[in-house]
This record gives sequence, structure tokens and C-alpha cells, in this order.
Amino acid sequence: MTILKDKVAIITGAGRGIGKEIALCLAKHGANILVNDLGANPDGSGENKIADKVVTEIIDDGGKALANYDSVDSFQGGQNIFNDALNEFGRVDILINNAGILRDKTLFNMEENDWDAIMAVHLKGHFNCTKPFACYIRENNKLDCRIINMSSVSGLIGNFGQTNYGAAKAGIAGFSRSLSLEMSKYKCTVNTISPGAATRLTIDLMKSAGREVDLENWKQGPKQIAPVIAWICSDNAKDITNQIFHISQGTLGIMQQPAVIKSYKSEGLWNLKQLDSLMPDLVEAKKKHDKEVEIKGEPV
Ligand SMILES: NC(=O)c1ccc[n+]([C@@H]2O[C@H](COP(=O)([O-])OP(=O)(O)OC[C@H]3O[C@@H](n4cnc5c(N)ncnc54)[C@H](O)[C@@H]3O)[C@@H](O)[C@H]2O)c1
Repeated sequence: MTILKDKVAIITGAGRGIGKEIALCLAKHGANILVNDLGANPDGSGENKIADKVVTEIIDDGGKALANYDSVDSFQGGQNIFNDALNEFGRVDILINNAGILRDKTLFNMEENDWDAIMAVHLKGHFNCTKPFACYIRENNKLDCRIINMSSVSGLIGNFGQTNYGAAKAGIAGFSRSLSLEMSKYKCTVNTISPGAATRLTIDLMKSAGREVDLENWKQGPKQIAPVIAWICSDNAKDITNQIFHISQGTLGIMQQPAVIKSYKSEGLWNLKQLDSLMPDLVEAKKKHDKEVEIKGEPV
């Protein structure tokens, strides 16, 4: 099946884990791939040309791919990644912002550089890589492109020890919502993924939570994310934008977005007596809504 024949996809952090599986899958579906990866350690330190292996695997399988080792955390890096893809393949249709690192600590123990490094790779990394692509789309009036961003349960729901990562991943969801509005004129869809997969970033966390890790099980490994991404990149998904898809443990779901659940109007300035009754009522409404959503979200 070549649903992505002749399309060109940039995938950041595609040297291993989720990004690598996306690169292999999109290549199988006919896309030419710019495999970006700095080859960093889980905390963002170090460099290694691991992108080469993925490129070799794609070429050996009959596909086309080019490696790029720039860091997404610099503005110039984002531009270089885009330029490499355009110069090699003559066009760019798809951007998957996937590169990521972790610096997990409670806020009490977090150093300024733990905060800055996470913001630089995740949040600014999305900006750095998306801006050249978005400008190219506008300058060429190019239609039907795809941007897919990687958020996380940590940013969308919350997770202990991840104020830095959670803030960046929540920021990515906000970035995607506004960007989807800006790109709609060009029929470029912008969607967000909340993935869950056993990779070097999560295996230790899974084990410490008492979960058994079996990398041969597709419901645990990073392969489960890739077909969904390929589908979102296909023509069948041309009208699907501004959504958050959760893909984890063999389930695929769509997530709710922030919205007002219940509200009151007052003729005058809110007084404290009013708030004594309204505020608990609003919190109750939210709890009821959460319960309903929990039931609706059960896999079918
Ligand atoms: N694995 C999960 O369960 C999970 C859950 C939620 C979100 N995510 C997100 O999914 C994405 C992929 O995570 P993964 O689990 O596959 O991790 P991974 O560590 O297996 O892969 C991430 C890749 O990004 C590369 N990278 C790091 N910093 C970079 C930089 N500055 N420039 C370019 N490349 C860089 C790394 O070298 C690595 O190869 C990340 O954004 C992560 O935050 C993963």
C-alpha cells in the first residue's frame, strides 16, 4: 500500500523509539523520509549518528531517506532540518515533531537547567521545526500538508515529578490548537498525539510502577503509534484537524479539549456569599462530567 507515495516527511527524533517506528511505517507507505536525530542520551546530553541506521533500514527496504543530526532545540537547527529535506527531495508535505528528552524531578529539586533543557527541546523545538515548514506552505500556497505534534498525558492530565515536562507538553497542545487555526487556510491539518509506549524514556517508570515490560507485545511497544500517524497523514484524514489522539497499551482514543462545562451569569459583581454556593456547585458539575467522560472513554 502506498497511501503516502511521493510525499516527503520530516520526523524529528526518529533514530529510535516512537519516531523510528513512524519513519519505517511512513516509508513503507511510500513517503520519502528525513530522519532527524541528535542521538542524545535520555536527558538530552551527548550526540550520536543513530539516524544513519534508520536511513539504511529504509533504503534496504527499497525506500528513500536522508539523515540529519541537528538539534531541534536551536532555531538554526530547525531551519537546517527543513532545508535538508527540501534540498534532497524537492518538497515537504509532512512534519512530525517527535524529538524528546526527560529531566524528571520534583520542583523542590529541579535546577534551572532542567527546566530550560525541557522547554528548549520540546516546546521551542516544536516552534523551531514548524516555523520554516509553515512559512514554506504559505509562500508556495501549498495545500493539504500535515503537522503532527507529540504531547503527553503528563501535560494533558498531570504527572508527579514532571512539572517541566508537563508544562512543555501542555504548551505543545496549546501550540497545536492555535496553529491549526492559522494553517486551516492552507488545508494543512495540525493534530496532537498523546502516546504511551515502552521506550528507553518509559521502561524504568513502567517497571517501578510494578508493570511487566514485554517489548515483543505490540500493545506495549512503540510500533502501535505508527499506523495511526500514517493514517492521519493520508488523504482520508484531510478534514481531521485540531484533535488530540491518545494511543497507548493497544487502545486508540480521542481526548477532550478544555471547554466550559457549566456556568452562571450574575447581574452584578460576584459577592462572596454567592460564591459560597456557586463554587462548590461548579466543582460538583466538573466531578460529574469527569465520571461521565471516564465511562465514555472505556475501550470498546
Ligand atoms: N514513550 C512514551 O510512552 C511517551 C509518552 C508520552 C510522550 N512521549 C513523547 O514521544 C516522543 C518520543 O519519545 P520516545 O519514547 O520514543 O523517546 P526516545 O528516547 O526513544 O526517542 C526520542 C529521540 O529523540 C532524540 N532527541 C532528543 N533530543 C533531541 C534534539 N534536541 N534534537 C533531535 N533529536 C533529539 C533522541 O536522540 C531520541 O532518539 C517524545 O516527544 C516523548 O516526550 C513518549
